[in-house]
Amino acid sequence: MHTFKNNRVVRDTGALYPILQSPMSWIARSSLVSAVSAAGATGMLETSSGFPIVQREYDAVRARTDRPFGINVAIKFIKDRPEVEKAVLDWALDGRTKFMTTSAGDPRRHIERIKGAGVTVYHQVASLDGALKAEDAGVHGLIVEGGESGGVRAPDSVHNFALLQAVRERVALPIVAAGGIVDGRGMAAAFALGAEGVAMGTRFVASAESPVHDNYKQGIAGAASNGSLAVPMGARAVIRVLRGPLSEAIARGEPDAVPAPDSIQALYVDGRLDVALGSAGESAGLIRAVKPVAAIIDDTVAGFWREIERLASLLEGYGAMARVSG
Ligand SMILES: Cc1cc2nc3c(=O)[nH]c(=O)nc-3n(C[C@H](O)[C@H](O)[C@H](O)COP(=O)(O)O)c2cc1C
Repeated sequence: MHTFKNNRVVRDTGALYPILQSPMSWIARSSLVSAVSAAGATGMLETSSGFPIVQREYDAVRARTDRPFGINVAIKFIKDRPEVEKAVLDWALDGRTKFMTTSAGDPRRHIERIKGAGVTVYHQVASLDGALKAEDAGVHGLIVEGGESGGVRAPDSVHNFALLQAVRERVALPIVAAGGIVDGRGMAAAFALGAEGVAMGTRFVASAESPVHDNYKQGIAGAASNGSLAVPMGARAVIRVLRGPLSEAIARGEPDAVPAPDSIQALYVDGRLDVALGSAGESAGLIRAVKPVAAIIDDTVAGFWREIERLASLLEGYGAMARVSG
């Protein structure tokens, strides 16, 4: 059996596999995080919801598994709420985890405190420039998010096929690839491009343990290959969501096309794909069914080693051919 024993992401997370569940507000809570960690990957608990929800969800994960899990701080989402920001940081760094990720903002805001507490921190970046700045700030690793990822993006974001290579060329830190990955083939491809781990968001939204309404999960499972699109979100960002009448109308700039103001209630709770935008990556087009988290992770790991063996067999084939012709 193959293992990931020389893998820096496994070293840093303490998990069996270099696979992370991406942080997602409201979704990355106890049922999903505990299932991911229990299956040997690393669940990442979101903290944007603030207290008492975060404390309650943390305790619930701890009650369900003794495997390691991490805590994410989405900097932009809490920096305008200084009391929440301070409370979350104080709480997280009080021995609650050995592994954190920061996202959506400047890592310098928290890096000294996190490192000072002896916690390993990876920062989520979406560009080469962001990766170089995060390295400069002193983070231990990077989560590299390509433009195909679900959620909020820069309008000019580069997709992972080029972005991972660009970052690998310049940065020696461990890289976790996020965006477009749903299985072992995607994971092996990400490793070939320079990653040492992968993170999946959309794949885990469409899992049995994800807390969102089944309509949203089925919307992802039924998405066509081009089933996501990026629609404008304010002047300087886009959000990659499931393709449908509403998102297409917004993309066309129709003034009457406006999503429900509270998409968590409308979509996550009530399952209203007709009035809300459901974040999803290009990866949605690769997802065929809602599956239990453990099956997703087991299949990903098995598929990864299958791909590595297939690629290694090219080498043997080459050797055999060289012997014949030589
Ligand atoms: C439904 C959904 C919600 C997300 N919410 C957040 C969030 O709250 N904070 C964040 O930093 N990233 C968020 N993301 C981005 C993910 O962390 C991750 O980068 C992305 O899902 C990776 O691409 P994939 O969906 O193709 O796996 C979200 C993504 C999705 C699909």
